[in-house]
Amino acid sequence: MSKKIASARISESSSRLLQELNNSLPFDKILYREDIEGSRAHAFMLAERGIISKEDYAQIEEGLIEIYEEIESQTFLLDGDDEDIHMAIEGRLTEKVGDAGKRLHTARSRNDQVALDFRLFVQRNTQQIADLLLKNIVTLTRVASENTTTLLPGMTHLQHAQPINFGYHMMAYASMFKRDYERFIASYERNNYSPIGCAALAGTPHPINRKTTAERLGFKAPTLNCLDTVSDRDFALEILFNISTMMMHMSRLSEELILWSASEFKFIQLSDKHATGSSIMPQKKNPDIPELLRGKTGRVNGNLVSLLTVMKGLPLAYNKDMQEDKEGVFDSVKTALLSLEVLNEMIDEMTVNVEQMERACMIGHLSATDLADYLVKDIGMPFRDAYHITGNVVNLAEERGVDISELTFEELQSIDDRITEGVVKLLDNRASMNARVSEGGTSTVRTNEQIETLLEWIKTKQ
Ligand code: ARG
Repeated sequence: MSKKIASARISESSSRLLQELNNSLPFDKILYREDIEGSRAHAFMLAERGIISKEDYAQIEEGLIEIYEEIESQTFLLDGDDEDIHMAIEGRLTEKVGDAGKRLHTARSRNDQVALDFRLFVQRNTQQIADLLLKNIVTLTRVASENTTTLLPGMTHLQHAQPINFGYHMMAYASMFKRDYERFIASYERNNYSPIGCAALAGTPHPINRKTTAERLGFKAPTLNCLDTVSDRDFALEILFNISTMMMHMSRLSEELILWSASEFKFIQLSDKHATGSSIMPQKKNPDIPELLRGKTGRVNGNLVSLLTVMKGLPLAYNKDMQEDKEGVFDSVKTALLSLEVLNEMIDEMTVNVEQMERACMIGHLSATDLADYLVKDIGMPFRDAYHITGNVVNLAEERGVDISELTFEELQSIDDRITEGVVKLLDNRASMNARVSEGGTSTVRTNEQIETLLEWIKTKQ
C-alpha cells in the first residue's frame, strides 16, 4: 500500500519535472505573433489548394485573429500546461472553432512550424537592429562633422602616437557600425527563404504550394531542401554572431568613453543621465552605462557559443536539443536593441572637451614622425638615419621639459645642421594632423571626405 502511494507520488512529481524540462511555452510564448501569422498563411494556402474547405479556412482565419487579440489584451494568458506556443495556439483555436481548428495542422509539423516562427522573429529583429545601427551611424557622423578640427592624441598601445582629430576617431566607429549594418542585411538576404511546408523532414504528400506561403510571409522563395530546413539554425547563429561583433565594437567604444571620462583624461563628459553616483562617495560620477554596454558583450558572446555548442554534432533532422536555440537569441536581440538605443542617446548627449583633448596633444611628442618624414622627404636622408636624428631631437625636448613642437629652430639645428627653418611649422600638431592627406587619413579634408561618403551611403539606406 505504502509502496503504491510512494510510487504514485514519484511518478506524479517526475512527470511535473519532465514537463518543466520539456515545455518551452514559458519562453517561446513571445513567438505568438509569428506563430499566428504563419498559421494564417498556411491555412490560406491549404484552402487555395482545396486541402481544407473555404468554410474551415474562414473559421480558422477568424479564430486566429481573435486569439491574437486575446493574447495582446491578455485575456488569453500563455501560462497553461501546453508544451509550447504552437500547441497553445492550436489548442485555443480548437476550443474556439472545433474541427476546423483540428484541420490547421494538415501538411505541417511543429518542426517546420518552429523553423518558420523563429526565422520570422530573427528576420524581423534583424531589420530593427539594422535600423538602430543606422541611427547610431547618423549620430556618430554628426559628432564627427562637428569635430574635424578638434585635435586628439591618436594612440597605439594606449600611448600617445600621432595627432588626429576627434571627428576622425568617431568616423572609425561609424565605419565599424556600417560594416555591422551590412553584415545584418547580408544575413537577412541569405536567410530570407520560407521553411513552411517542409513538414516533419521529408515534405508532404498533400498538394501544397510553398510559393504561396513564402510570398504571403514576405520571403523571397521557399527553401530548397526540407531535410536541411528543419535542422537548420544558421539564421539564428548568424544573428548571434552579428550581435556579438556589433557589441564588441560597442564595447570598444564604451571602453574609450569610460577612459575619456576619467579624471586623467577628461576628454568627454557623459550627460548626468548616463552616469550615476556612488552610495558612499558623494563626489563620484561613475560611467555605469558604458560599463554595462561593455559588460553585456560578455553575455551575447555566451549566447553565441552556447548555440554553436548545441548544434555541433546533431544528426539530421530535428532533435529536441534545438529547443535550446531560443532563449539565447531572445536575450541577445533584447540586449542589442536596448544597447543600441542607449549608445545612440549617450553619444548624442555627451560633451566634447575640445581644449582638454588639444592640451593632451602637447604630451608625447606626437609630431616626431613628421620630423622623420621631413628628413626623408625634404633632406633626402635614409629613413633609419632620420629615425635616429629624430630620436635625438626627442631627447633634447625631454631634457628641456617641452614638447617637440615647442623646440626653436636653433635647438633643432643643434642636433643636425641640415634641418631647415620650415620644419618648425611642420612640427605643430595641427599641421601634423592636416599633413596626413592620404586617402582615409586623418587630415580635416580627408575626414570631411569620409563624412561625405558615409552620408551619401546613409541616404541610399533610408
Ligand atoms: N517546442 C519545440 C521547439 O522549440 C517545437 C518543435 C517540436 N518538435 C518536435 N518534434 N518535438 O523546438
